[in-house]
Amino acid sequence: MLDRKVEDLKILFTKEQIEQKVQELAEMINKDFGSNEEIVLICVLKGSSIFCCDLAKHLKMPVEMEFIRVSSYGNAKTSSGNVQALDLTLPNLENKNAIIVEDIIDTGCTMKFLTDIICRTHQPKTLKVITFLNKKMARKTDIEPDYYGFEIDDKFVVGYGLDYEGYMRNLPYIGYFEK
Ligand code: IMP
Ligand code: MG
Repeated sequence: MLDRKVEDLKILFTKEQIEQKVQELAEMINKDFGSNEEIVLICVLKGSSIFCCDLAKHLKMPVEMEFIRVSSYGNAKTSSGNVQALDLTLPNLENKNAIIVEDIIDTGCTMKFLTDIICRTHQPKTLKVITFLNKKMARKTDIEPDYYGFEIDDKFVVGYGLDYEGYMRNLPYIGYFEK
């Protein structure tokens, strides 16, 4: 049983604010890459699944979608710093524009791990990082996203792909629990 209830969540970003922001982010990518340059979205499961699919729908260039899976949190609410690769299967990315899509960058350990390994083993033509939420204050690495939706304080948030002990990813808004 979960010790927290959806009813107790304080809303941080509404469904409408999220939709608006996703569109803005897609427009930036459309503008930066143009409509002829192909891109590969690398969706980091499970958290960025919803954001990645929403973003993809607004992109105007030819888009490929790949899915990888890592785990850094387990069920705890603070980042362990230990990133576990669960599935990093990717096609050949040489001569491709790759964009890693994350739900949130917290310490940055996950993204550092991913950018290092993808650069080293796949050598894409370009590699960018997009995250919907940016917990800049919590950073423990020198990772900065190329694109982000919202900067947030160091609080634990759920919804729109982000989970609390595996649940609440399906909420169409983003919220947090007050202590
Ligand atoms: P990092 O390696 O510390 O940057 O953590 C990145 C991962 O931790 C994210 O992809 C999320 O899966 C998870 N995470 C970080 N902060 C939160 C949060 O506030 N709510 C839910 N998951 C989070
Ligand atoms: Mg994640």
